[in-house]
Formats: sequence, C-alpha cells, structure tokens
Amino acid sequence: MGIVYFDQDRVFKLDTPHTSYLIGIVDEDNFVGHIYYGRRLTDYGLTNFLRTNEPPFVPSVNNRERISFLDAFPMEYPTHGIGDYRESAFRVRSKGGHRACVLSYVSHEIFAGKKKIPGLPTSFAKEGECSTLRLTCQDKCLGLSVVLNYSVFEDVDVIARSVEVHNMGTDGIMLQKVASMSLDMDNRDFEMITLHGAWARERHVEKRRLGTGFQGVASRRGEPGHQDHPFMALATAGTTQEHGEVYGVQLMYSGNFEIRAEVSQYTSVRWQAGIESEDFGWMLAPGEYFYAPEALLTYSFAGIDGMTACYHDFIRKHVIRGKYKNSKRPILINNWEATYFDFNTEKLLSIAKEASGLGIEMLVMDDGWFGKRNSDNSSLGDWQVNEEKLSGGLAHLVNEVNKLGMKFGIWFEPEMISPDSELYRKHPDWAIAVPGREPSQAREQLVLDFSREEVVEGIWEQMEAILRGANIEYVKWDMNRPLCDLGSALLTPEKQGELPHRYMLGVYELQERLVTQFPDILLENCSGGGARFDAGMMYYSPQIWCSDDTDAIERLAIQEGTAMIYPLSTMGAHVSDCPNHAVGRTTPFETRGYVALAGTFGYELDVTRIPEKDREEIPRQTALYHKYNDLIREGDYYRIASASENHAFDCWQVVSKDKKESLVTCVQVLASPSRRSRIIRLKGLDETKRYRVEGEETVLYGDSLMYGGIQIHNLKGDFAGKLIHLISE
Ligand code: DGJ
Repeated sequence: MGIVYFDQDRVFKLDTPHTSYLIGIVDEDNFVGHIYYGRRLTDYGLTNFLRTNEPPFVPSVNNRERISFLDAFPMEYPTHGIGDYRESAFRVRSKGGHRACVLSYVSHEIFAGKKKIPGLPTSFAKEGECSTLRLTCQDKCLGLSVVLNYSVFEDVDVIARSVEVHNMGTDGIMLQKVASMSLDMDNRDFEMITLHGAWARERHVEKRRLGTGFQGVASRRGEPGHQDHPFMALATAGTTQEHGEVYGVQLMYSGNFEIRAEVSQYTSVRWQAGIESEDFGWMLAPGEYFYAPEALLTYSFAGIDGMTACYHDFIRKHVIRGKYKNSKRPILINNWEATYFDFNTEKLLSIAKEASGLGIEMLVMDDGWFGKRNSDNSSLGDWQVNEEKLSGGLAHLVNEVNKLGMKFGIWFEPEMISPDSELYRKHPDWAIAVPGREPSQAREQLVLDFSREEVVEGIWEQMEAILRGANIEYVKWDMNRPLCDLGSALLTPEKQGELPHRYMLGVYELQERLVTQFPDILLENCSGGGARFDAGMMYYSPQIWCSDDTDAIERLAIQEGTAMIYPLSTMGAHVSDCPNHAVGRTTPFETRGYVALAGTFGYELDVTRIPEKDREEIPRQTALYHKYNDLIREGDYYRIASASENHAFDCWQVVSKDKKESLVTCVQVLASPSRRSRIIRLKGLDETKRYRVEGEETVLYGDSLMYGGIQIHNLKGDFAGKLIHLISE
C-alpha cells in the first residue's frame, strides 16, 4: 500500500515508486498542511516544514497573529477570506453573501484502488496498482464537506488528485471556485514549462522563469483551445531533457481550465489547477455533491524525459480504454484535404480503390456528407445522409468500400448547429445564447446546449441511426468553434454559471454512450485540429487529431510539444499533399511519411491525383508502419534534438520496453554545410547490449551509442529524413 498514516504525528505519507508526498494535520484548528512532494523518502521527518515548531506563529499559541500564520502556512487546499491572501483553491458565497470558509480535517479513509468520478473521465487501475486517500474536511459554519482525494499509483510516478464537495447544510451555497489541486512549495528558482499556440500551430513548448505574483495558462473557450493547454511543469533552474527536477500537472478535463503559479512575498510557490473560475458558478443545493475533475501530478528528478516517460506510461495504462488501447490502428485515408466538400460516391470510391492497392486500410469520409452541406455555412445538426452526393445511400458506399477490403469511417460534429439547418428552425432554443442578444457565430455556426438532456438525446438518436445503418468502424468527432454568449434556455438565473461545466458533462455523456454502445468503433477526437487534445478526451478516444497543419516541418514543433506529455499512440498524424495546404511548403514525400509515422499514421490526400512517384512510395510507407508501429505505440519515447531550438534538425527515439530494439527518426529542416557534424547521443538503451544499425555495418554497444553517440551524416540515405533502426544482437 503506497499510503500510510502516522497517527501520533498526524502525517500521511504517499509513495509512488520514486516519489513521496507528505501531508500533515496541525494545530487545534486541524488545518491540513502540505509538507513535501519530491524524491522518495525513507520516513516522514520533515514536519518542521509546517512551522508548528515556531510557537509565536501558531494560532493555538498566538491567536493575535493568526493572519501571519495563515498567509504563510503551506495549506493543502487553501480557502478564501480568512487571512490567507494568496490565491485560494476553494471559493464560495453563502446564502448570507459571505465568502469566508475554513476547512478543517475531520476524518480520512485509505483504500485499495480508486473510485470513478461521476460523469467525468477518471483514471483507473487494476488491483494492486493503486491506493487512495480520502481526506474529509469540513467548514462547520457553512455545513460544507470537502473531500480531497489522492490516488497513488504503484507502477508509475503519478498521483491523481480530485475534489468532492457536499452540501450538508440547509441552505444553497454558490461554489465560485473548486480547484482540483493546490500545492504550496518553496520556489527553487522554478522555470515554468507550458504549451501554447494558435490554430494550425498547437502546443509549442514555452519556458520562462517564475516571477513574483501570478503567472499561468487558462481557457474560457469551453474547450482547452489551440492557444493554451491544460498542462504546466515547474522545473528547477537549469533543467534539461535528462537532468533536473520537474513537477508536472495536467488536467483530465476538456473544458475551461486554469493552471496558475503564484510566487508569494516569502518566495513560496502556490500552484493550482482546475476548472476556470471566472466563467464558473455552481449553486449547490442542500444534499447535493459537486465533483471537480482529476489533476494528474508527477515529479521527476531525471529532467523532462522523466516527466514524459511517466505521463506516457500513465496515459497508456491508466487513461486509455477500449479495443484499440493496446492495438494497431488501421491506416486510414481521409478525404478532407483531398476533396473538401466537393465529393460524391464515385469520387470516394475512386480514392478507396486506389488506396486499397497501396496498403491503406480504411477510408474516412470527412465533413460534407449530410443535410445540404456543400460548404461550411449550413446543415450542422441535420445528421441525415445527403443522397444527392452519396447516390445509393451510405450503406451502399460502405459496402463498396468493404468489398475493397477496407474499413469505413465517418465524420461528425455533434456539438454544433448551423443557423441554416432543419434542427435550428425546429429548436432555435437548443443553441447556447443569451436571451435578447444575437449570439456570435464562428464558421457560421452556433453551439448546441449540451447541458440539456434532450439536446444530447436528440443528437444521439441521429448519430445512432447513422452508425447502425452501415458498417462504420471509425468516427471522427470534430468541434470547430469555441463557446461564447453563455446562456442556457433551461437553467435558472442562479445556475447559468454552471453551463460550461454542464456542457462538458453532456459531451462526456455522449462520448461514453458512443464507446459503450459501439465498442468496436475507433473514436478519434478533433477540434479544428488540436484544440481539444487532453487526457480527458483520451479516456474516450485513443487518438486525437493533432493539428490542421499537416506540413511535415511545422508538425515537428507541434508533435514535439504534444509528445512531451502524451504518448505517440494518441497523436493523429497524416501524410498530406504538397504544396502543403496550410503553409504552401513542399517537403519530400519520405519526410512526410517519417513525421506521420511518429503518430497514428494515415493519409490526407487525393491518392488518384498525387505524382506517380509519391504514390509508388506509399506501399513502402505502409510497410514501415506495420514494421514499427508496435514499437512506436508501446515503446519509451525520448527527445534527442529539437529543431525549434537548434534550427537545423529534429530527432526523436523510441526504445522497446525490453531494450532489444530502437527506432531513431531524424528530420533535417535546414542544410548547413559548415556544420561539421551532428552527433546525436541516444538514450534508453541497455549499456551492455550490442546494437546493429539495420542496413549498415555499424555494430555498437549501448553505452557507446548513449555516451558517445552516432554521427547521423555518416549514415547512408537522404538526410531530408532518416530512420535508424537498431536491433540488439
Ligand atoms: C476541422 C478538422 O480539423 C479537419 O480535419 C476537418 O475535419 C474539418 N474540420 C472539417 O470541417
């Protein structure tokens, strides 16, 4: 059991394989204090961090200076309005309009395993892989109970935190902020690592030093968005890929979020993650519960690589579910960049015919098959087949594709409604809007009010009919605009602030239905590219479309940032046509293949129209996919070189868990003749094993490859991109 309570000293010790987390209960007030999180410790003797041995400072000894205590105490879950002026994790407004709240420990429970959070994606574990601490705190004055959950994993260095609020009083209480986790630590000259971007430029890595005051990332878009990402790492000064201490937090949540670090006057850091609080307000009636989503915490003393390894293993083992959790995904060809809205049965079948002979295994029909949708200005919400385009109907098309030996997949955008749609004409109130105010459109569409059961039900009925009507084996679930003009026709005024979170609960409910009622369907999430790429979505879909930018060179930075915290098996990546539709660049077809191989792998082009020599390359690429995908999907990933930093070449490596095999991918972005050499030092190999470079004479021990390295320009081949396959002898 990774959790022990030391009764006499009132300390909880939570251990993962390499980390410890210490919590202490102090003083007569029963404050819950944070003692330590970091490298694994033998015992729990750091209780002096709670400062209870500084008598003038402790309220029970010196109540006249209670505020001085509260404003410096490392509180495990700080509340608002009582004299701790740093950011609170929990804010309420009582019936009387008061904001103050004090949470004191009342009891705890430690048990094997972990519980599912109602309505929310939740990490899970098999027997013996995890144990949970439930710390119950109460504000007796408000009649509120707040449970802090800590699930400690035995096989990977992750602690999953979540929070549960129960109104035990007789009056409704407005919850204004319920963070999923809060952590007070000393500032060790931390650098903050975050992922930022824009449409078609998602998740670029950014690093900056923490300064005094607030800094962080947030979204009020109703989804994480292209811009910020629900992740932050705090790394000690000088941290590199391989060295230094790194704390990571990511949210298992796909809606509004905030992750902030505040450096206080005493140079301590308060670090928090949870649902964004400005657009949040939850009226908790007597007897009701509220559940905040999970925050996944990790700590590594082996640099960024250590954090990456933990998150990859954790997501693969404890987040992703379903048939495709541990198996190869079909190589797909998607018609979006091939045809956009201009397609019909004949066109799709011509693509499928050509593709099936090249090793491509599934045709995905993207946007434009329903209602009267011939551009992006209509029909969202009308999920009936447009038989003018698909003559003979959907089942006919799917049968024909199946006859070619290919699977068939389909695109939906379930959360949206076009003002020009039958659905909108029938149910205008199903769109999110503020009464009397024209809601802002984006891509000429509005957002459905998924906080309403009948809306979710109405969309499900249509989706289900389509999915039952033909042999559909894959669904791409898209979401192409953020939320605004927040208003639900059903919620009472005091509950309007619940809309963004209730909306997410509706989305999760529909995705859960899809994966449970159609367990054989492979679900791929997408949001205008990668605006909703998070661990919450991964609970439903083992892969997510990474970005609308399919340019191989632009993808390097996008995939580098994405792979910093998510396994390669989740990254939707396709080979597309050139000049690239997003940036106009032309890259070698091989390079496009090497970059897409680092993800789920597929195609996004009109295979009947690409140059013959590119088409001829496809069977080689699909063969590479089959040769390497198990390794790429299941192996340990390492970042070797970053083109974003060196401006010359990018390099990553995957090593099989048994260290018998490794694949190194290098992509050149700038030829620079005066650069003498490019020695890359490999990682993760067995020092004592001899590795042969496939197709070369080279045979080297793991230690030579890791501590000496290899000169990549000495290897044969076109250096616009190269795969180096190492096999142990
Ligand atoms: C945005 C997605 O990212 C694209 O791949 C495509 O599905 C379009 N939406 C369709 O509208």
